[in-house]
Amino acid sequence: MKKLFLLMFIMGLLVRPLLAGEGMWIPLLLQQLNEKEMRDMGMRISAEDIYSINRSSLKDAIVLFGGGCTAEIVSDKGLILTNHHCGFGEIQRHSSVEHDYLTNGFWAMSQADELSCPGLTTTMLMKMEEVTKAVLDKVTADMTEQQRNALIKENSSRIIEKATKESGYDAVVRSFYQGNQYYLLYTQTFKDVRLVGAPPSNIGKFGGDTDNWMWPRHTGDFSVFRIYVGKDNKPADFSTDNVPYKPASHIPVSLGGVGENDFTFVFGYPARTKQYLPSYGVSLITEVTNPPKITLRETRLEIFKRHSLNNPRVRIQYAAKDARIANGWKKMIGESKGIDRLNGIARKQLTEARFIDWAASDANKAYAGLLPAFEARYAQLIPIALAADYINEAGMGIELVGFAARFRPLVDESMKANADAQKMTILTESLRKQTEEYFKDYYEPIDREVAAALLKLYAENQPSAFRPAFLDDIQADCKGNYTAYVDKLFAQSVFTSKESVQKLLENVTMKTVKKITSDPAYKMYADLFGFYNQHIKQPYQQLNDGIDSLQRLYMQGLMAMQTDTRFYPDANFTLRVTYGKVEGYAPADGVYYKHFTTLDGIMEKENPDVYDYVVEDKLKNLYNTRDYGRYAASDGKMHVAFAASNHTTGGNSGSPVLNADGQMIGLNFDRCWEGTMSDLMYDPAMSRNIAVDIRYILFIMDKYAGARHLVDEMTLVN
Ligand code: ARG
Ligand code: GLU
Repeated sequence: MKKLFLLMFIMGLLVRPLLAGEGMWIPLLLQQLNEKEMRDMGMRISAEDIYSINRSSLKDAIVLFGGGCTAEIVSDKGLILTNHHCGFGEIQRHSSVEHDYLTNGFWAMSQADELSCPGLTTTMLMKMEEVTKAVLDKVTADMTEQQRNALIKENSSRIIEKATKESGYDAVVRSFYQGNQYYLLYTQTFKDVRLVGAPPSNIGKFGGDTDNWMWPRHTGDFSVFRIYVGKDNKPADFSTDNVPYKPASHIPVSLGGVGENDFTFVFGYPARTKQYLPSYGVSLITEVTNPPKITLRETRLEIFKRHSLNNPRVRIQYAAKDARIANGWKKMIGESKGIDRLNGIARKQLTEARFIDWAASDANKAYAGLLPAFEARYAQLIPIALAADYINEAGMGIELVGFAARFRPLVDESMKANADAQKMTILTESLRKQTEEYFKDYYEPIDREVAAALLKLYAENQPSAFRPAFLDDIQADCKGNYTAYVDKLFAQSVFTSKESVQKLLENVTMKTVKKITSDPAYKMYADLFGFYNQHIKQPYQQLNDGIDSLQRLYMQGLMAMQTDTRFYPDANFTLRVTYGKVEGYAPADGVYYKHFTTLDGIMEKENPDVYDYVVEDKLKNLYNTRDYGRYAASDGKMHVAFAASNHTTGGNSGSPVLNADGQMIGLNFDRCWEGTMSDLMYDPAMSRNIAVDIRYILFIMDKYAGARHLVDEMTLVN
């Protein structure tokens, strides 16, 4: 009996049906793979309404925003929405003490007031085609990974050249399913994108890092931009003559609200996932490399916090660094915990056991031996991956060392037989600027403590074969007293004060270069870098190439073994559709989280003494008078955010969350902590994406900011 239960349990895990919500699908294949299911789940539009090359479709309204987010066009005048954290850099760039848009928000009351953002681009997918055959032309199974990659690159260049010539668009070839399929993507990049509006940070970043990666959430994480083009409606460099872009389609915005279990989908640019790793690969991430990275980051964050607590200046200096370090730190914790809770490694092992059985038959023998090969490579990879992480997170985590590293291009150029004087001048000028910026946000007491703590962790946790020489010098010199070592380092280095660095850069000669290269902080960096080049770089590359080729075969094998399963490719920063339902979840025994939050929750969290939870009077007044107008939900409340089971990842920030009719109901900006392992393994019970309710965005624009004209530009539907 017991045996039968065990068998049933195992079978239950093996014949994994497609889980509601799981998958990031290729728009081109929606009709073939997903349309029926989407309709069964409640969708009322067609796959062709989402992606079409014959007529306008939703895809014409989705763009890749900057380097790593998504945005969507919501008016016929090229108005786009993305997250506050995606527009943050631009908002910050335009901010000054007199115009502090980060603190106070910014609203262009007419197009003339919209602020240009040099360097910011948005890219739109025009169409895509499968080109696997042409890309793999003359590629054979016995090629080395390097030969294969070289040939693929050559084939792709030919395809791209032809495509750009014939279409007039830009084109790229991207690998899907671990190099088993290739697609040609035609794109168009807009180069004149202007800042239109942003709420104050205590709305756009409400809850800050405390609430980051968490549900229930109350962040109004949005900002507004506009795409400008030449008079011919084509992309053009910035010019005052440019006009707002007239898109082939823009997304209608729904005032109808969000109900539990409503069908919903997200259309955007997920960056990277690793759904098909073998158990060894998952273990490497969640059991081997995440834990020390978490500890190293925690160490830094704790020191930042202690120094910021009673020092507002330091808090501002370290706010951005803290946010960046904390975002990854929190994600890793959630990911490792999530895989643990899911028994993720054991689940992978079950699939692998089945795979080994399947590959034992003559017909599938091409796939035999894959898993032991993975096992061997990953075992070799462990120390190398850890060593690389310690270099990055411990060595380069010391700001002094990271800053010294920036002088390397100057040193390199000066060492050349025919050093270019003009280049030296440019590099020096850039370093002078960097010096200004770096010291603006530098607080030496923090860095000293960080250095002592990180060096200690580094030395104690890396075996001698993977320790750069300076770590052993510390032992010899200071008998393991890290603070004493750090005191000496900081006393001797020129890189600890703005004045000394500026003096160094006053007149750059060979003597200056000598001074840089003999500086103890620069030497530390050079030691780390030299160690990496000598001991890590090559084996790392080789092992990864080997793993890539195994992974390609494994993916192929998994697809051959499970012919009745639909496979979606890992995220690779190409446009995808993911769909699920608006739903809450049970994060722990006895607890259930509802699918939405309201302005009441903002008032509950309000704390004028805690930076992350300050609420401005203006918002409080709107709350007190319940002045929500047409943006109120049917329960009379102002809904702020909602959760849904769409399978999203980094890059989906700023993606539209759409309803069954393809109308925008929310703006995606995060995932819940309990579900962050979805980059490796999706859990329908816990994996939730988090969106700002579109009605809260409209309410803030209209009632809070008085930018009603922007709301009026959109196509609102009830
Ligand atoms: N966790 C979200 C993402 O991965 C939001 C990050 C920005 N917000 C913050 N509080 N740091 O990008
Ligand atoms: N905040 C993430 C981003 O910037 C999205 C959250 C996630 O990883 O799902 O893309």
